[in-house]
Amino acid sequence: YKRITVKTLVDMKANGEKISMLTAYDYTMAKIVDGAGIDVILVGDSASNVMAGHETTLPITLDQMIYHASSVIRAIERCLVVVDLPFGSYQSDPKEALRSAIRIMKESGAHSVKMEGGREIKDSIKRILNAGIPVMGHLGLTPQSIYKFGTYTVRAKEEVEAEQLIDDAKMLEKVGCFAIVLEKIPAKLAKKVADSVSIPIIGIGAGGGVDGQVLVLHDMLGMTHEFNPRFLRRYMNLYEDMTSSISQYVDDVKSRDFPNDSEQY
Ligand code: KIV
Ligand code: NA
Repeated sequence: YKRITVKTLVDMKANGEKISMLTAYDYTMAKIVDGAGIDVILVGDSASNVMAGHETTLPITLDQMIYHASSVIRAIERCLVVVDLPFGSYQSDPKEALRSAIRIMKESGAHSVKMEGGREIKDSIKRILNAGIPVMGHLGLTPQSIYKFGTYTVRAKEEVEAEQLIDDAKMLEKVGCFAIVLEKIPAKLAKKVADSVSIPIIGIGAGGGVDGQVLVLHDMLGMTHEFNPRFLRRYMNLYEDMTSSISQYVDDVKSRDFPNDSEQY
């Protein structure tokens, strides 16, 4: 595929090709991720944790999301870019939701938005879709509702919540969402959801029976090291590599090893 679109993702599911997705929040990282062949970059509101050091995703603002998204957009050539609508920018009413989605599209140049929730935000999703803005859903563990849940543990282990989740996924497909993220739910339930809709289901902590996978970039690169959920596969240990490189630099400066004769004018 030369350029990934929302249509490409639906075709990939139909053809049984898995979808790869990672977060990115800035130009330099996005350039590497896109160049490495990722299908989708998510400018996640996890930037609130990863970039800004907040404990939850709630504090990040729409202006801050637009700043991250526009940095990512300047870097990419091939992948689809999805931007999280942050907490507080779409929950009060459909008009506000549409205004927020339009700001993201106009001011960052992103290709689509993602919103957490099911039936409770249906009218807002429809309003945004009606304006021609593609929407990705997000069900299961929805971190913007952390104070309602109380913990970041696995969701939908009980029958009632599982039924609700399947109904919500079908509703999101019916209104016209192009894909859904399923976060931290039992693998068996996630597969059942993927089998009951024709739009792609992208999982994080949702097992291998879904249509694609997403991870937070800084987690999979091992830059963060205090967050160790079972679903996280670390492909590097950058926390250690960066720490030793930086302490080496400190030593080199202190010992006058850096700069040497060839490293000056
Ligand atoms: O913000 C984020 O990184 C996300 C992913 C975990 C799906 O929403
Ligand atoms: Na998010």
